[in-house]
Amino acid sequence: MPRAVTAAVEYGVARAGIATVRVLDRDVIGQAHHPRGAAGRVTAWEMAHRPSNRQRSRWVVSLLGVQPADQVLEIGFGPGLAIAELARVRAGHVYGIDHSGVMLRQASRRNAAAIRAGRVTLIETSVDQLPPALDGPFDAILAVNSLGFWPAPAQRLAELRRRLAPGGRIAIASQPRCAGATADTSRSAAREIENLLRDAGFTHLSTQTLPLSPPVACVLATNPAPDTR
Ligand SMILES: C[S@@+](CC[C@H](N)C(=O)[O-])C[C@H]1O[C@@H](n2cnc3c(N)ncnc32)[C@H](O)[C@@H]1O
Repeated sequence: MPRAVTAAVEYGVARAGIATVRVLDRDVIGQAHHPRGAAGRVTAWEMAHRPSNRQRSRWVVSLLGVQPADQVLEIGFGPGLAIAELARVRAGHVYGIDHSGVMLRQASRRNAAAIRAGRVTLIETSVDQLPPALDGPFDAILAVNSLGFWPAPAQRLAELRRRLAPGGRIAIASQPRCAGATADTSRSAAREIENLLRDAGFTHLSTQTLPLSPPVACVLATNPAPDTR
């Protein structure tokens, strides 16, 4: 198997703190950042079948407390595990974006019935090029092991907050997959996410941990109503 593939599988597709990810070898993170071609399809398959990935997607969705009328947006849906869970818990409508065509095809296959039923819409685009159809307002937005790859994440979070309804929730989760990642790595990823969310104007931050190896940290926050900011 090509080095890029085995390395991507080993390192997975998570962020280990923005700084750490950015110094990893470009081959290693290339497929996780933007899965392409045959190697991308292998990476996508691995992401979809890794038990910890499935567990963390279900967990993050459970933390959002999605209601039947909710409009929900996922950034960087990958193979579409959280999208499937959101459809299963009967969110009103689930939107998702990913800039990888390989991932769009995988996630579309996984969620074909919900897409046909008009309950899920998946779009191939980057988080810095959200189309007007995704102006919102959304009741909830989530991203799992994706924020570390975004260009200018602070700016992106501020833009996403403007797409949330007042009182809308955001969940940003990270399970660091770099070699040697520990609970400390997860804690420092959580602190970075907390700081980014606070700076972007979110309030009511709360950090939850799923005790996997390494742990998954999920920071939840709220878009305050205008008079509570
Ligand atoms: C590590 S995977 C995580 C996939 C999924 N959230 C999960 O946990 O199984 C990161 C995903 O983010 C996507 N991604 C990275 N940068 C992105 C960007 N700028 N805009 C949209 N998607 C992006 C990648 O294509 C990839 O599918």
